[in-house]
Amino acid sequence: MDEAALQQALTDTQNLGEMPDADAVGTVGSPDCGDMVRLWIKYKEKDGKKVIDKASFQSFGCQTAIAVASIATELIRGKTKEEALSMSAEEFSRPLGALPPMKIHCGQMVEGALRAALEAENKPAAGSAAPIVSDQSGTLADALSAAGKTKGKIKIVLTS
Ligand code: FES
Repeated sequence: MDEAALQQALTDTQNLGEMPDADAVGTVGSPDCGDMVRLWIKYKEKDGKKVIDKASFQSFGCQTAIAVASIATELIRGKTKEEALSMSAEEFSRPLGALPPMKIHCGQMVEGALRAALEAENKPAAGSAAPIVSDQSGTLADALSAAGKTKGKIKIVLTS
């Protein structure tokens, strides 16, 4: 992994925070490390097509997950749902260089949250095989406390 690229992505973190007027939201937790990502999507009409206008995220995750989520929320802008669904964790993490094996799940967690959000319109809270927190309302902090998780190992990213 390119440490300089990771630090740059963290310095330039994009689209961090809740999106109150989102059309869809997806949340995925990683059983590997207990980290979580929630991702919101807002659509718009463009040239007769429904495309992603913007996306945002919250992360209780490691730096890699935050950086990948930031990159992903930028890369999916202007894409249709189908185009976004065809994108992979590898594409989202490519700007960071090859992830070491122990960090691959960080990108996959972001991809899972995106898929959960993209599929949420049709199948609320049950659209992905990845582990999804069923409560899609409120903040990640709400979901974590509802799930009885402690904050001991979890990095909390505050939204501004
Ligand atoms: S999301 Fe678990 S270590 Fe990165």
